[in-house]
Amino acid sequence: MLCKMTCTGSWIKVLALGALLSVSTESISDSPSIKTHDTERDLKRWPTLAPVIPRDEQLESKIDGLLSAMSVEEKVGQLIQPEIKFATADDVRKYHLGSVLNGGGTAPNNNKYSSVGDWVEMTNAYYQASMDDSDGKLAVPLIWGSDAVHGHNNVVGATLFPHNIGLGAARDPELIRRIGDATAKEVAVTGVDWTFAPTVAVARDDRWGRTYESYSEDPEIVEQYAKMMVDGLQGVVSKPSFLDEEHVVATAKHFLADGGTHRGIDRGDAKISEQELVDLHAAGFLSALESGAQTIMASFNSWNGEKLHGSRYILTDVLKNRLGFDGFVVGDWNAHRFVDGCSVDSCAAAINAGLDMFMTPSDWKPLYENTLRQVKEGEIPMARVDDAVRRILRVKFRAGLFDKGPVDGRKLAGREGVMGGKKNRLLAREAVRKSLVLLKNNGKVLPIQPKANILVVGDAANDVSQQSGGWTISWQGTGNKREDFKNATTIFEGIKAQVSKAGGEANFVKSDDIDNFKFANAMGPDAIIFVYGEQPYAEWHGDIAGIEYQLGDKVDLNVLKKLAKYKAPLVSVFLSGRPLWVNKELNASDAFVAAWLPGSEGAGIADVILSDSKGNVQHDFQGRLSFSWPKYVNQTVLNKGDENYDPLFPYGYGLSYASNVELSDSLNEDGGKFDFGRLDDAWVLVSRVMPPWTLFLQEKNGAEISVDGNVAVSPESKAVKVMSIDRVSQEDAREIVWSGAAEASIRFSAKSHQDFKPYLEEGSALTFEVRLDAPLNGEVELALSCGDACGANIPFSKFVDQNHLKTWQKVDIPLACLAKQGVDFTQVKTAFSLQSKDKNTLQLSNVKIVPVKGVTPMLSCSG
Ligand code: BGC
Ligand code: BGC
Repeated sequence: MLCKMTCTGSWIKVLALGALLSVSTESISDSPSIKTHDTERDLKRWPTLAPVIPRDEQLESKIDGLLSAMSVEEKVGQLIQPEIKFATADDVRKYHLGSVLNGGGTAPNNNKYSSVGDWVEMTNAYYQASMDDSDGKLAVPLIWGSDAVHGHNNVVGATLFPHNIGLGAARDPELIRRIGDATAKEVAVTGVDWTFAPTVAVARDDRWGRTYESYSEDPEIVEQYAKMMVDGLQGVVSKPSFLDEEHVVATAKHFLADGGTHRGIDRGDAKISEQELVDLHAAGFLSALESGAQTIMASFNSWNGEKLHGSRYILTDVLKNRLGFDGFVVGDWNAHRFVDGCSVDSCAAAINAGLDMFMTPSDWKPLYENTLRQVKEGEIPMARVDDAVRRILRVKFRAGLFDKGPVDGRKLAGREGVMGGKKNRLLAREAVRKSLVLLKNNGKVLPIQPKANILVVGDAANDVSQQSGGWTISWQGTGNKREDFKNATTIFEGIKAQVSKAGGEANFVKSDDIDNFKFANAMGPDAIIFVYGEQPYAEWHGDIAGIEYQLGDKVDLNVLKKLAKYKAPLVSVFLSGRPLWVNKELNASDAFVAAWLPGSEGAGIADVILSDSKGNVQHDFQGRLSFSWPKYVNQTVLNKGDENYDPLFPYGYGLSYASNVELSDSLNEDGGKFDFGRLDDAWVLVSRVMPPWTLFLQEKNGAEISVDGNVAVSPESKAVKVMSIDRVSQEDAREIVWSGAAEASIRFSAKSHQDFKPYLEEGSALTFEVRLDAPLNGEVELALSCGDACGANIPFSKFVDQNHLKTWQKVDIPLACLAKQGVDFTQVKTAFSLQSKDKNTLQLSNVKIVPVKGVTPMLSCSG
């Protein structure tokens, strides 16, 4: 429609290039690995440590006895950890599996609302299966692992503590121990034995999607906290309560340098020296070992091109031999498949390098069979298998699993009042108070007197999901409703309770409703609290290309500007998993609080920002930045100790009520230029839909539906459905299914117009990858638009090669071509849309706008 047919010829050229660039899944995702020179490695850089728990000869000979009674099949079974969606209790019995996990977002019976009773029923059934020796084999208790990373976060109703970045700001090691202890109890209530926490990453590039799982950019705090968290979770090694029925096994993860990858790419490559490994990234592991952490999770990432799951040097020479680690190394989610020569279902190299247990969610059966064969054929030495099983058994003994008996008879299992109980919630609320960092308080507008008219603005102010971030009930923290958080408080609810009690009035208004909001009091509000920030994400879904908050789509800045008309003190409460460039938002606020991702106890915020009814401070700000805050948008790598360190707020910064600091209201708003030497990629869909884009679907004449969560369908006649699917990794692609019932579209649109002119000038292309399983029916129209009657519209069949079905094809469309079709690149509203009236299915991933200077032949589309 928008595209004149004269442009057709040009798209054929694109097709030629598209075909040329067609690549298989594997070759797109995997970069060849480069081996470090062994000569650069130097064990002497590492401390020599002895295990904190002295070797217990009696225990070792007990293990000898078990090992000699176990068949090779039983031994290999111990090395396998499937996910509960893919392995039943009967599988545990039959294969003598050593462990299972429930992954992020998995609960018993695939029911997110599983009760504590349902959990115990299931953990007990799996335990009982592991102890069933009716086949004449040995009974070895199963160890069940779960990601309790900010509380027992996969369980509805659990206490959710602030994510690690907020705890880092609290600077309170003893608080961390108490949180570990409280978390262990909630975990034990469900019969789960083991948590994959703490993450002891030292995040160096805040574009990393797991920055919030890191306590600090500096090893100092990570070192202090790691041992306290392990003490809290497991109990203290020298005390009788160590790994008793109120404690669980801890994991220090991810070994090593997960926070040190190039450009903060999750699962990427840490291109750093060995000395940096020792000085920065090992700190938390060393201290976790001091507290007797029983398991270490190997990391997805590489170190100078070598995947850690395959690094004998790091896993065995360093960790086990030099650092004296005598527990076991668990793999990360299918990460072994990235080791040279490995696949998801076969990886002798990882076991030989020193991995002791494969985390192998769904493909565990072939992995079990292959590993068994590799042991029988000698590719994996029997001594290595015996060592791995010995380590696993040693941990199981230390954790008392051989003695604790059936799960449902354990001290805390199923106990009422612990999960999300009052005591733990009060602790979480204390943690929230301590984590808040006050960055600006001009005119000392904080604390706010509660006996006043207070306007609380922003959807985030009343949304437990957003304040809790990723790893919250679901893996990404998306798709949850208010009712899913029993007994939690939103930030607004906390404010409202205190304001009402003091005789004031607090009103909540969503950002979109601000124009129509009528304040009952003609005088308007006495103070305004605006809560906003990042939407939930986890792992690589949270990786970002740049650190400017709401780049190109300053929705919240616009709200701040509107709120200025009330002439009331304006307080920003910013929710985020990392520091972001917010100079404009700071300038538009009188006070600014970095609140991170506080979790279920939103009320902790009111405790600090409101005074008591007499005007006295209830709780002072105690948080101090554990991450440097950027002054310029190009400060993506900004860390304490840098040469030319020039942050807006340095590491350690944080005001208290006594501080007399007035921050300039005219911080540099241009932020400086990116100095990457070229424009950064603009991401639209890279696993997650990236801000400022939202994915919508809509039938012709139907309602516009925004897609939040893993699946959505147009309500009228279900003509279009979008679903998250796994391509290379979990939920990294979308499947779009048109039923043919009505004309319908999907589109990635922003709230405001995006300026992509610099990309156009740079010679960029719209790129994406697509897969068709069958030829198209009729036509699918692709469009990029700049508002009503502005844009380009092109038939999909022009550049997708329908002779190459069932394979991923990469398509690049030069922006210059689209400009010729009428796209005004200063005003892009929809970066990508697809429309069909016929029945069609396609899969889509990696939609980006990428500067691709050098691919100039495509520019001949001018035709
Ligand atoms: C699982 C998570 C896991 C992630 C890793 C998800 O599908 O639910 O537990 O961490 O995949 O790739
Ligand atoms: C994550 C781990 C997590 C595991 C199990 C992985 O994708 O990297 O941190 O423990 O999944 O959910």
